[in-house]
Amino acid sequence: MRWLIPAAGLALVGCNVPSEFLQRMEAQAKYEYYETSEFWADGKAMRTPPEGTIPRERPVGSPGLGTGRVNGAFVTSNPVELNREVLELGQKKYNIVCSQCHGRLGDGNSVVAENMGLRLPPSLQQIADKPDGHFYAAINEGYGVMPSFSGELNTQERWAVVAYVRALQRARNTQQGGQQPLPQENR
Ligand code: HEC
Repeated sequence: MRWLIPAAGLALVGCNVPSEFLQRMEAQAKYEYYETSEFWADGKAMRTPPEGTIPRERPVGSPGLGTGRVNGAFVTSNPVELNREVLELGQKKYNIVCSQCHGRLGDGNSVVAENMGLRLPPSLQQIADKPDGHFYAAINEGYGVMPSFSGELNTQERWAVVAYVRALQRARNTQQGGQQPLPQENR
């Protein structure tokens, strides 16, 4: 047990070592942004990524797939290929994540809506004229007091929910015998 005392003393000394004697990663030899370098023929330290590489943050696929926007404008058609499977996924996820507020039919009639003091969840039926990207962005980023649901739904599931909301809007229009044109001709 006698060794404990010098060991504790050493540990204490260790705390007081001036930082220049510690090997800190921030103090290592490295290039800063836009610095010159003699190593590369073009004299720049910053390198151009090899052709065909994609930053990890950028979603792969159709433009607007990750954000619902292309150059700041909402995409007008669902970038995910729609089929029965996608619609069923959208239905499942909508019923789990959205319906308690926006209602099973998307008409805003729900138990939560009845008891919600702050702001009522709007009817998604009444905004059928808004582009697909609007619905996607609302899910992805949140909308007003509604939080983002990007933690609950992945990109594929978000677009599947958008497709299902469209299906609800269409079904509603059919039921009423309305002639309301669909927002986009390609669905
Ligand atoms: C906790 C209740 C709640 C849940 C769950 C919820 N919403 Fe909302 N949603 C709201 C409220 C409230 C608003 C209005 C927010 C505002 O105007 O500040 C809103 C707004 C929206 C809007 C924008 C409406 C407009 O006028 O353009 C869309 C689209 C939408 N929600 C879709 C969804 C979808 C899709 C889901 C499921 C992924 C969902 N919401 C889940 C409460 C909810």
